[in-house]
Amino acid sequence: MTPKSKTIKKHAGITAGITGLGCYLPKKVMTNADLAKLVDTSDEWIRTRTGISERRIADEKEVTSDLAVNAARMALRDAKLEAKDVELIILASISPDMPFPATSCIVQAKLGAVNAACFDINAACSGFIHELTIAQQFIESGMYKNVLVIGVELLSRFIDWKDRSTCVLFGDGAGAAVIAPVKRGGIISSYLGADGTKSNLLMCPAGGSVHPASHKTVTEGMHFLKMQGNDVFKNAVRVMTDACAKVLHKSGLTTGDIDCVIPHQANIRIIEAVVERVKIPMEKVFVNVDRYGNMSAASAIVALFEAVKEGRVKKGDKVLLVAFGSGFVWGSCIIEW
Ligand code: COA
Repeated sequence: MTPKSKTIKKHAGITAGITGLGCYLPKKVMTNADLAKLVDTSDEWIRTRTGISERRIADEKEVTSDLAVNAARMALRDAKLEAKDVELIILASISPDMPFPATSCIVQAKLGAVNAACFDINAACSGFIHELTIAQQFIESGMYKNVLVIGVELLSRFIDWKDRSTCVLFGDGAGAAVIAPVKRGGIISSYLGADGTKSNLLMCPAGGSVHPASHKTVTEGMHFLKMQGNDVFKNAVRVMTDACAKVLHKSGLTTGDIDCVIPHQANIRIIEAVVERVKIPMEKVFVNVDRYGNMSAASAIVALFEAVKEGRVKKGDKVLLVAFGSGFVWGSCIIEW
């Protein structure tokens, strides 16, 4: 194969945008008061340190792919597409059905999306921005016309319910979006970054080749999420601030051009610190961390879904998405709605 034949040509004039959105939140609500019955914590501590009041917890019969399928069906209806129209499914999750096969393949089968290629990505809380950027490449190269992206987490099964420093922070949920060519608006610019030297600060140590399942890993709770909260907090603020500045610069826009910010929903104090540094007023920032906690890959997509539904994002608005997560990985993206 010559180098020339490997090149994917950008089809002039194609811009990728979001043409459908969906979300699924399990019915069961777990309040801070419920948590205070499990660990030594209080509603007051959780609200003042994180802004979280409650989170959703999946039913014991539900698995990650079920949450994903519910969100995907809604996004396909919104985009007026049938499952067979989908050419590619990208699923972002750190809490998949199992290590392999890819959860996107399980979702493909449940949806009946028989014509779709599938793969999963692990970009933790930045999952939606990463998959949006990947989907954009497939659409704008002319390779596909309909890409379904899903951000889904069932973190309640990866949490140590005896560890008060982590169990109060996370929740379950799913969001989905259809990415397709659009005539107006669409993705203006995006930026992705990573720093693998800090991977030890937020991780699930066991279940892979480093620590395969054993009596020791189970006894020591090594299949649960582990986090150095304070270090993660500081890095999140620094990196998300920088990611906002970089994507604004790339798109030739200023903060004054942005109508709505959809930040990753991990902690209200992180969100406030980032937008203060970027100099965007809180009135322009969409927040739902109080109701769902941190749903990792699902957070930004569910927040975008709700912001659109509530009229906080309207046609022609410029939306800034920014996220940060385990890896560390991060990303930012500006979309004209
Ligand atoms: N309830 C009551 N007390 C708690 C608690 C809880 N749920 N969790 C921790 N504490 C205690 C600690 O044990 C510590 O007590 P000590 O001073 O006696 O040792 C004290 O509260 C302060 O802990 P610290 O970790 O310094 O608190 P903090 O202000 O950093 O807040 C987090 C903790 C986890 C809320 C905060 O660090 C955070 O949000 N980090 C980022 C997490 C995140 O967003 N991760 C995902 C990124 S994508």
